Amino acid sequence: MKKIAVVGTGYVGLTAAAYLADRGNRVVGVDIDADKVAQLNQGILPIVEEGLDAVVNRGITSGSLTFSTDTIKVVQDVEIVFLCLPTPMGEGGEADLSYVLGVAAQIRDVLRPGAIVVNKSTVPVGTAAKVTTAMGRDDVYVVSNPEFLREGSAVYDMFNPDRVVIGARSPEAARRIADLYKSDCSDIMQMSPEQAELVKYASNSYLAMKLSFVNMMSNLAERMGVDVHRVLEAMGADHRIGEAFLKPGPGWGGSCFPKDVQALLYMAELMGVPMELLVNAVDINERQIASTVNRARDMVGGDLQGRTVAVWGLAFKAGTDDVRDSPSHRVIELLQMQGAKVVAFDPAVGKTPFEVARAETALEACVDADILLVMTEWPEFGKVNLMNVARLMRYPRVLDMRAVLGRDELARHGFMFETVGHGVPMHALV
Ligand code: UGA
Repeated sequence: MKKIAVVGTGYVGLTAAAYLADRGNRVVGVDIDADKVAQLNQGILPIVEEGLDAVVNRGITSGSLTFSTDTIKVVQDVEIVFLCLPTPMGEGGEADLSYVLGVAAQIRDVLRPGAIVVNKSTVPVGTAAKVTTAMGRDDVYVVSNPEFLREGSAVYDMFNPDRVVIGARSPEAARRIADLYKSDCSDIMQMSPEQAELVKYASNSYLAMKLSFVNMMSNLAERMGVDVHRVLEAMGADHRIGEAFLKPGPGWGGSCFPKDVQALLYMAELMGVPMELLVNAVDINERQIASTVNRARDMVGGDLQGRTVAVWGLAFKAGTDDVRDSPSHRVIELLQMQGAKVVAFDPAVGKTPFEVARAETALEACVDADILLVMTEWPEFGKVNLMNVARLMRYPRVLDMRAVLGRDELARHGFMFETVGHGVPMHALV
């Protein structure tokens, strides 16, 4: 049983804190937001994350998990401090380290000798060294332990990691951090802090690139009248390629990929190393988002002015209420700029930081719509009765950018429709 502080209770910090408490440690989650801390102490979660509620409440009930706003008081009593702080994108695409370095400076004088400060935030190569300098303590260890949690599956990922990456100069510190995870992971990879920091950017950038490739292939296949989904399935069956991350869509987004890709590009530019593949991946993604709007525009006859567009899905993917850098947000803005009236429905997203009319149900969003645009792959969208949708719309048109609606059913109910990655059936071309 170790005493641990987790500074920052966003989805990474909260999931890590709950996991560590569940594995028998005494954990205090620290946050500057007093309302959030008060709510968390009552077991009320600020985010939607499958299964997190149960693990957090288990920790609170057993007394192994508590929350506080008092960083200094908490930190002086623990042997490990996890930093799970935001690293937003700065002006030029570089990661903004002010939160991480700010907390490092705040806690430096109160840490116990032998304490380990663990960076879980996504930070540029060299940050562990900067944190070490900011602390100015040769009796305190700094370790890099990037997280690979996906929003929506964070709890599953935390308890079932593919690998755990630990970047440490000191083998002793590495061993103490590895001990925290060894019951759930057989692949604990030790390396230098710089390597660990780079793994995170390289992984996210690779995945973003894979998705841009998929969207590029999907566009080509559609144009050739080929259904790309089966092609991708067959590609994914090759274990060197892998079946994950092969679904075409309206473009990738979220709080991590866009920011991390830009940060890696920024680092590469500083080093004078060209990164064409990644630059192109970003361009392809921008085009995918813009072309979603163009497709909708073409489907309604070439002009969005005065058209009503129903949008299903605001979150950047299913299973989360997060709209940060969501393709749906981008698409809605472009639709509105071209004069369309947008009515959106999302089963999880509450208040949005942007203006958009909201419907209470998926069906209500379709009332008098000229086109329905599916932007998030919420499984419930596939269960909505399409006959009712057709009846409510001004004209039964669908652009499904997640391929969640049944094409046969769309055809049966008389929709004019396009679904991402599905070409015109070959027989229709001959
Ligand atoms: C991503 C990584 O997957 C995590 O490993 C990482 O820890 C996290 O960023 C982070 O840096 O914190 P996340 O942002 O939650 O996780 O989202 P993903 O599930 O990776 O999805 C990213 C985007 O790709 C979404 O817009 C999603 O809709 C899109 N996507 C994903 C597709 O369009 N097709 C796919 O087949 C998969």
